[in-house]
Amino acid sequence: MKSRIESNLKEAKVLLESGELVAIPTETVYGLAANAFQADAVIRIFETKNRPHFDPLIVHVAGIEGVSEVVAETPPVALKLMQTFWPGPLTIVLRKSSKIPDIVTSGLDTVGVRMPDHALTLELLRSLDFPLAAPSANPFGYISPTSAQHVAKQLGDRIPYILDGGICSVGVESTIIDCTSQTPVVLRLGGTTIEQITEAIGFVEVNTTSSSAPQAPGMTLSHYAPRKHMYIGSIQNLLQEIEGEVSVLSFQDSYPNYRNIRLSETGDLKEAARNLFSAMRMLDADPGHVIIGEWLPDVGLGRAINDRLRRAASQAKS
Ligand code: TXA
Ligand code: MG
Repeated sequence: MKSRIESNLKEAKVLLESGELVAIPTETVYGLAANAFQADAVIRIFETKNRPHFDPLIVHVAGIEGVSEVVAETPPVALKLMQTFWPGPLTIVLRKSSKIPDIVTSGLDTVGVRMPDHALTLELLRSLDFPLAAPSANPFGYISPTSAQHVAKQLGDRIPYILDGGICSVGVESTIIDCTSQTPVVLRLGGTTIEQITEAIGFVEVNTTSSSAPQAPGMTLSHYAPRKHMYIGSIQNLLQEIEGEVSVLSFQDSYPNYRNIRLSETGDLKEAARNLFSAMRMLDADPGHVIIGEWLPDVGLGRAINDRLRRAASQAKS
């Protein structure tokens, strides 16, 4: 099978209604979607991605109204987050409803839910009478896809249809916030910044290392990783220490003597986030045997980018 890459909503709808998988665009990364209420369809997501069954999926809804059939209850703080940040890159973890099969949440009694900010996918969600369970549309552990072509490259012979919605405008995954306890806890840094969340609801805890769902490898140290070794630090120092052919992933500065991708010439963190995963993919396909990169300013989206760089560099590779 070769997936078709098109923007035909009717076809995507028909496939999803018959229990097939469809890759869908979102503002963060492309997702690999199935009917969230249908366990046999969801199982295929895990098979297709080689994803371990203990890593729960995010459920995508068309709007706040759609949340009530996914979760058991919506506390006021969660409602406030939805009203402030949806549609957008924020996943909210709440107690799950009985309509969500255990396979979606890996047996947890909570579920992550979000309303993505992408016109095509919102129209698709509105046309369906079920929400969509979707992890990022990449093989487990590899760099997330931010274009339809990225999805096709790795999963193109395993899924029938990729709904092409262009390049993802945010470029890093959603922020995940657990609202099941008194104080909300951020479990994954992402497209909505801690600063924005604090401004909306006040104090939050941030716990992205030992998450409340330790069985969820999306938060484990080695993830989002290229196949090559990646080192992060001072580029000048790393260039002196590392021998052989290297590729350089820099924030703003240019390194004309090397194969180099700059994330943002103007030092704009939004632009850097949007470019991050495609830059990592390009350098991974380079002849250089090692990728070296540098930390970005640890504020706003820079924190989510640094988190991805840290995990990409932590992959144990042979
Ligand atoms: O931006 C995104 O969130 C993208 C797009 C497609 O929406 N999706 C995405 O999904 O990044 P995925 O599967 O790559 O990451 C989902 C992560 C899991 O690895 C897990 O860590 C966390 O979400 N998660 C899901 N349900 C959870 C739950 N009930 N409790 C704690 N963490 C959960
Ligand atoms: Mg993922």
